[in-house]
Amino acid sequence: MTKQEVVDFLSDGFTLANLPDSFIHLRRIANDPHSDIEDVVAVARKDPELAASLLRLANSSVYNNGESVGSIEEAAQLLGMRTVVQCSLALGILKKVTVPDGSFDLQSFWRRSLTVATLAEAVYEHAPKLIKTIVDPKLLYTAGLLHDIGLLAMIQGFRDEMVRVIDRAISSETPIHLVEEEAFGFSHQDTGRILFKKWNLPEELQCVAGYHHHPLGLKRRLYYPLVDIVYVADYICCAGGPEMPAAFRPALLEDVWNRSRLDVNLIGTFSGELDQASDSAEAILSC
Ligand SMILES: [Fe+2]
Repeated sequence: MTKQEVVDFLSDGFTLANLPDSFIHLRRIANDPHSDIEDVVAVARKDPELAASLLRLANSSVYNNGESVGSIEEAAQLLGMRTVVQCSLALGILKKVTVPDGSFDLQSFWRRSLTVATLAEAVYEHAPKLIKTIVDPKLLYTAGLLHDIGLLAMIQGFRDEMVRVIDRAISSETPIHLVEEEAFGFSHQDTGRILFKKWNLPEELQCVAGYHHHPLGLKRRLYYPLVDIVYVADYICCAGGPEMPAAFRPALLEDVWNRSRLDVNLIGTFSGELDQASDSAEAILSC
């Protein structure tokens, strides 16, 4: 696999070579302070698959205490604007991606990405004022959800090479991005960054894709707080969630925590938020 082969694959081979229309509309709605829940309902009405998923979500035990919800309008009212937008963004993306059979546990991948997306917002709430003034909170969910998308793209396009890399990373207990760099000269961070750029996502998000395994490598002061928050959210997700191979666990980078003025010893205080984020991820995955 060469970088050029990956770039070519991202141009038209990857199922998310172009973002779904609903994703683009919803991002626009989320960024527009004048938008309201009716705008979201209008997007869902044009996308039957999304509408059906939102109905299932509104009827799931995480969001519903027993009253049956039958229309997309009722579902939107029950879930609220923020949840509808975020879940719709996630559903629009994760329904589109497939990987070759047996090559990768896609459910676990999305469970983690969805959990990190919600946790990133919780970490932001605990962040000091200075960090909050720099980070655009509207980017947090997308940043957490898609930070590892480069990994999926590489698995979809270059299955055999990636299966070998994953096996080697797991057996040697080496972080996957390091094994990728050794094998190909680049990692899924570069792939994600290229993809985010192609999608015209903001530069802060491109930095999240490109630096989430080594946030200290990013020196742009305006952009590293978002990268740090996603890194911290990913760390909390892996530290408090089910045991996973060392190859997929973020390294403990105390300098990143310190730079964000967050205390690594406070991981335990996020346990409630982690449980909520996991429940929400499960609800979305079951839609
Ligand atoms: Fe990663």
